[in-house]
Amino acid sequence: MCGIFGYLGKRDDALELVIKGLQKLEYRGYDSWGVTTDLDGELFVEKKVGKISEANLDDFKDKKTGLAMGHTRWATHGGVTDVNSHPHFDPERQIAVVHNGIIENYQELRDELGKENFVSETDTEVIAHLIAKYRKELPFKEAVLKTIQRLEGRYAIVVMNVGENYLIAARRGSPLIVGIGDGEYFLASDIPAFLEYTQDVNYLDDNEMVIVDGGVEFLNLETGDPIDKRLVNIDWQAESAEKGEYDHFMLKEIMEQKETIHRAINQDTDEIMHIAQQIKSSRGCFLSGCGTAGKVCMAGEYFFSMIAHRHVNFAPSSEFPIYHHFLRPESLLVVISQSGETADVLEAMEAAKSKGSKVLSLVNVEGSTIARQSDFSLHIKAGPEKAVASTKAATSQMALLLLIATAMIGELQEGRRLLAEVASKINDILNPRFLTYIKSVAEAIKDHENCYIIGKAENYPMALEAAIKIQEVSYIHAEGFAAGELKHGPIALITEGTPCISIVANDEVKQDIISNTMELKARGAYIIGISPENNEAFDEWIKVPDVGVASPLVNIIPIQLLAYYIAVLRGLDPDMPRNLAKSVTVK
Ligand code: F6R
Repeated sequence: MCGIFGYLGKRDDALELVIKGLQKLEYRGYDSWGVTTDLDGELFVEKKVGKISEANLDDFKDKKTGLAMGHTRWATHGGVTDVNSHPHFDPERQIAVVHNGIIENYQELRDELGKENFVSETDTEVIAHLIAKYRKELPFKEAVLKTIQRLEGRYAIVVMNVGENYLIAARRGSPLIVGIGDGEYFLASDIPAFLEYTQDVNYLDDNEMVIVDGGVEFLNLETGDPIDKRLVNIDWQAESAEKGEYDHFMLKEIMEQKETIHRAINQDTDEIMHIAQQIKSSRGCFLSGCGTAGKVCMAGEYFFSMIAHRHVNFAPSSEFPIYHHFLRPESLLVVISQSGETADVLEAMEAAKSKGSKVLSLVNVEGSTIARQSDFSLHIKAGPEKAVASTKAATSQMALLLLIATAMIGELQEGRRLLAEVASKINDILNPRFLTYIKSVAEAIKDHENCYIIGKAENYPMALEAAIKIQEVSYIHAEGFAAGELKHGPIALITEGTPCISIVANDEVKQDIISNTMELKARGAYIIGISPENNEAFDEWIKVPDVGVASPLVNIIPIQLLAYYIAVLRGLDPDMPRNLAKSVTVK
């Protein structure tokens, strides 16, 4: 949900550096972009509808400056126009602001500041106008602090003032990380923006402000008092956030699953045991996440039931707060999130904490808000996931849930062995022949308007996840069903040639789902079977290894590939699907 990036330091190509950094944050929003700097006391601004990856760096080469900031936008308040793009300014165009989040009291502040003075429809512009108002009576830094104290909602902002060589940033609810280089400073929504320059970071926490001039000074937003922050060295390599030999991040991240599952399961045994113990001793355990992470939670429900015979409840995070009636201090909420910044998940956590319940999390982004606001957090170690569609994070999260379920019954080593076998079998299937075959299936269905996916038991959540993958990158209408539910309504949608994917594991429900698949075929469906064994019901057979209860981890992979190839064959960009953003920091 929007990427922001500011630079202050020894280089004189700060504008180009900011644009390149924003290109790495493009996954956070790609409706429009904008950059600004101070060129000898004059404000330079460029704002454009479209993707920042299309910006021409040559246009900025002659603009020498050591301070710049910019923004890549996912529109919330105000249409996708040049004028609504960030940065936003005060009426005198002396103060510039970039912002990620939503200022909830912006209407009230607009009225106070005079609606007629505003040029954009955004909530952000009020910040610059309010700073300008306070600036008349206060030094700039104090005017910024006083302004921020009046904002309601969630935000990460960076502010600059023409003629003054510093940046001020603050956060509440949206991420902001300070990169500390050698004589240079970076302020960004996510680490890949500056990873090639430094791996030393300070995570800004909620209600904190940072002033970056010749050094960094952190302040408490409520009191204005200085605070000490811990410098963290992050272990991501710059290349892991690049596409490398692949055309798209989505394909790269699908292919990485042969390694990421290993990294997920080779976690510290004590940490896994700690989570297993917490789940065992809780009275009422909930799993919660959004979108793909939510489907992972559903798969977790099955793992806990099938392996550990333990009842856990899944609720999508956007629905979870209403469950507060069931929460007590002995309850446990386990949240799952790739980004660690999803607003709905944070709200679910607040609901749990308000009842004294403990919160555990599995996150991919270390140091993220969800990780830091949990009582205990396990890092899934999948490395940066840049494509909007979640792939490798989802399989790592499922691997960890399965491992925790085995730990709950004292079979952690067996769990590790099974998952190591899964990783090695994923390595085997991700070969050029397999990819070519999936591409040919994608070719066969790419022009259809609808596609249905059925699964049963632990693969029912994968049918739902398959639908998300196909919808979001290929824009084909896709829906997933519990196989047995078909005959209760959805089967009316099937006509001659309708593509239907049937996920058939070698498990105790196999015969049932085969019967449901035959019912689809009898109505003319074109059946794509994902299964260790072929069946007469299948028109196409995507062969996957038989990995027992871990089958969701291997079954989702051909569907990720199928969604990817359909998008590419339809001429779409799978990394940046329309209307979406990687990190959903609004409710
Ligand atoms: C779909 C997808 C989304 C995310 C969801 C939660 O491919 O990526 O559905 O899973 O927005 O995001 P995180 O995991 O960052 O909390």
